[in-house]
Amino acid sequence: MENNVKTMMLGTGVAIPPKTLTNQDLEKIVDTSDEWIRERTGMQVRHIVDDETQNSDLSAQAAKQALKDADMDAEEIDTLIVATVTGDVTFPATACYVQDKIGAVNAAAFDIQAACSGFLFGLSIADGFVGTGKSKNVLVIGCELLTRIVDWKDRSTCVLFGDAAGAAVLGPANGDGRGILGTFMKTDGRLAHLLCMPGGGTRYPAQVAISENLNTLKMRGPEVFRAAVTAMGDAAAHILETAGLTVDDVDLLIPHQANKRIIDATVRRMKIPPEKVYINVHEYGNTSSASIPVALNEAKEKGLLKPGDVCVMVAFGGGFTWGSVAVRM
Ligand code: UT7
Repeated sequence: MENNVKTMMLGTGVAIPPKTLTNQDLEKIVDTSDEWIRERTGMQVRHIVDDETQNSDLSAQAAKQALKDADMDAEEIDTLIVATVTGDVTFPATACYVQDKIGAVNAAAFDIQAACSGFLFGLSIADGFVGTGKSKNVLVIGCELLTRIVDWKDRSTCVLFGDAAGAAVLGPANGDGRGILGTFMKTDGRLAHLLCMPGGGTRYPAQVAISENLNTLKMRGPEVFRAAVTAMGDAAAHILETAGLTVDDVDLLIPHQANKRIIDATVRRMKIPPEKVYINVHEYGNTSSASIPVALNEAKEKGLLKPGDVCVMVAFGGGFTWGSVAVRM
């Protein structure tokens, strides 16, 4: 199986806004409590951007750190992918602004939208591009400024989200067995209505969206919760099968950080020891496409992922999308 490894992860980076929003801060904004948020979600703090910062700023910051970690210049990147649902503008792609900000002058740059599964969909695309020789070095960024699109009057959603960016540089494997062992992506568009921002596109253009309060994130929480538990289990089962791994082979599981209870359910389904599961939802809230690369970078920095370790990442998100990636670090 490892002889089929074509793509290697060469570096990672993050950008975390310094400003924080605690459960206590949220108690002053909506009718909620620290106790409710902790019990139902596991969240305590989120990081939020200031008014001046754009998605492309955070993305560029994470990208620069990932390039440094990979010991690579921006000019060496030939494909730049930003996974986001909160881009700078409707078009062009946020990736274009990031390309300019980091000087990745030789890259084709584009965005992908797969909500919280975005970073893993991006890794899957990168693996395909590098594996077929279409690209040499790919930069994948997951970045969200979700606090710009939440409805600050809706307590069922505004307490859940934070802002962050995470990035990874991918390049050709060196033959020692390290790299991407498998990827899996899935979508069920029948569930698109469960989690979306209806306004701002062609269906409800900006003027209509504002007058009808459609320009904010809408979520049917309990239904998303149920779909998420099923999707995470499916994503985990598929990636183990695709990569030819058993749970015992996994050194660290990084699940999308949406809700501690969803993570716990996934852990029970996978029958993986909880000490092999990385959780930081209490520190960042749900940062959508940034959640997995932020956790990945953090786990590396804490020494929880050493060269040769097997990391499995699983995510679900609006769309409905779900996916997974297994990588030998
Ligand atoms: O990345 C993908 C993004 N989304 C998710 O992963 C979210 C998945 N869903 C969830 O995590 C959970 O459904 C939530 C955390 C959003 C909600 O938890 P829940 O246990 O499903 O609560 P609920 O929506 O069934 O609401 C229970 C009660 C309701 O009150 P009543 O009708 O029982 O009186 C809500 O109005 O909790 C109330 N409630 C709140 N109370 C205090 C909802 N939000 C809050 C709040 N503070 N922030």
